[in-house]
Amino acid sequence: MKKAKIDNKVQLCIDRDFTISKIDERIYGSFIEHLGRAVYEGIYQPGNKFADKNGYRKDVMKLIKEIGVPIVRYPGGNFVSAFNWEDSVGPKKDRPRRLELAWGVVETNQFGLDEFMDWCKKVGTKPMYAVNLGTRGIEDAKNVIEYCNIKSGTKYSDMRIKNGAKDPYNIKLWCLGNEMDGPWQMGHMTAEEYGLKAGRAGHIMKLVDPSIETVVCGSSSLYMDTYGQWERIVLENSYDTTDYLSLHTYYGNAENDTPNFLASSVAMDQFISQVISICDYVKAVKRSKKTINLSFDEWNVWYHSNGAKIEKWCEHPHQLEDIYNFEDALLVGSMLITLLRHADRVKIACLAQLVNVIAPIMTSDTGAWRQTIFYPYMQASVYGRGEVLNTVVKTPTYESKHGEAPYVDSVVVTDEENETLTIFAVNKNLEEDFELTCDLRQYAGYKVVEHSVLTHKDLKAENTEKNPDNVKPVDFTKGSKVDKGILTSKLPAKSWNVIRLAK
Ligand code: AHR
Repeated sequence: MKKAKIDNKVQLCIDRDFTISKIDERIYGSFIEHLGRAVYEGIYQPGNKFADKNGYRKDVMKLIKEIGVPIVRYPGGNFVSAFNWEDSVGPKKDRPRRLELAWGVVETNQFGLDEFMDWCKKVGTKPMYAVNLGTRGIEDAKNVIEYCNIKSGTKYSDMRIKNGAKDPYNIKLWCLGNEMDGPWQMGHMTAEEYGLKAGRAGHIMKLVDPSIETVVCGSSSLYMDTYGQWERIVLENSYDTTDYLSLHTYYGNAENDTPNFLASSVAMDQFISQVISICDYVKAVKRSKKTINLSFDEWNVWYHSNGAKIEKWCEHPHQLEDIYNFEDALLVGSMLITLLRHADRVKIACLAQLVNVIAPIMTSDTGAWRQTIFYPYMQASVYGRGEVLNTVVKTPTYESKHGEAPYVDSVVVTDEENETLTIFAVNKNLEEDFELTCDLRQYAGYKVVEHSVLTHKDLKAENTEKNPDNVKPVDFTKGSKVDKGILTSKLPAKSWNVIRLAK
């Protein structure tokens, strides 16, 4: 049967005065959990030829700096729900080896809170620290913030100084537990129990340092049975001490159905809109003046490594080491566009994770390399700074399991100060090039500086240590032009595009 021809034209409609929001740079955050080889052999490997005198991998730091990761969530994830932060500080020889029950391994605690803070400074990022509200409670949350943020003269601040950190860390962003709605979570609770506990933890932590911001756990996915009610009840019990509500989501293509896989950003978009509605519902019921914003602090593609087995109780095994392919990079690009389109309410987001574990960066003993998903993440972080314009995308759509999906996802970002305008666009059509147009007459004098394209003939193409440049963006500036104030760009079939203009 002959396929119906689609109209492969897409029009972006923008107005210079119609902005969604200034972008909070923390939406380009990431995540390092004590899991697999994220910490050990990832960011920390004493004795390795790339390690500095502290054992931090310099080659990995270089790639993280290339992305410009503004915040890193740490130390978990599921790991945090039975973690004793005190185990991870003080002389390394005295730190206990512990059974790590979330991932079935042994944690040596040779890299801990003080090393993480030191590493953050060296890599030029800020911490987003998670406290254990699974097996522990508000007393420990109080103690760890005293250790981190009080100058001196108390038990825990003096302990930090004794451990070598004279100045307080002043950690501003705190996660109150992790995925407490999940039955797999150590110390899993009902929404009422968790909401009360998180409210009390936020209260006591803000007594120690009123300048901090707290993130309470939302649902660990849109598909949890308790989704919706969980958010409402947690916020009803913790509203006054809470600043952000978290969202987590991972997508996969186990059925090898690329159009449906690429449509997953539609589900992500609906998830964000629904959670905003719940936050605002609770705000209304409480007659509150305060708005709860969103922290999308785990998002990515995750399925390639599912089912891989590890030897029980070993140290930092190869775990969750997804090898990403080209189509994964396309979806990551669409997910970044989705986050940007909600920049008025999504203030924090963390690509989960950063190194080796479902990560854009991989390491071996002999080097570090960029996975396919590194590129959209890096380019969005580097070029997606400034303000998001309300971008109406007139595009053909297709039916997907998530509902009607646009063939082209796109968003426009401006930086008025530096007089730049950047368009991010994913063409999800696997066969057809699209022609994108955008009326830029309000941006007189703006010219195309670069059109970068990530595409590949093979959707399953990967980057490996031996072939690290198999999938990477190429210059396609010839694909875009401005004529009489109208931008015309070619978006090749199955491609991630970054079109940059400047005056
Ligand atoms: O990122 C991997 C795991 O996914 C995290 O530990 C957990 O929070 C989520 O389920």
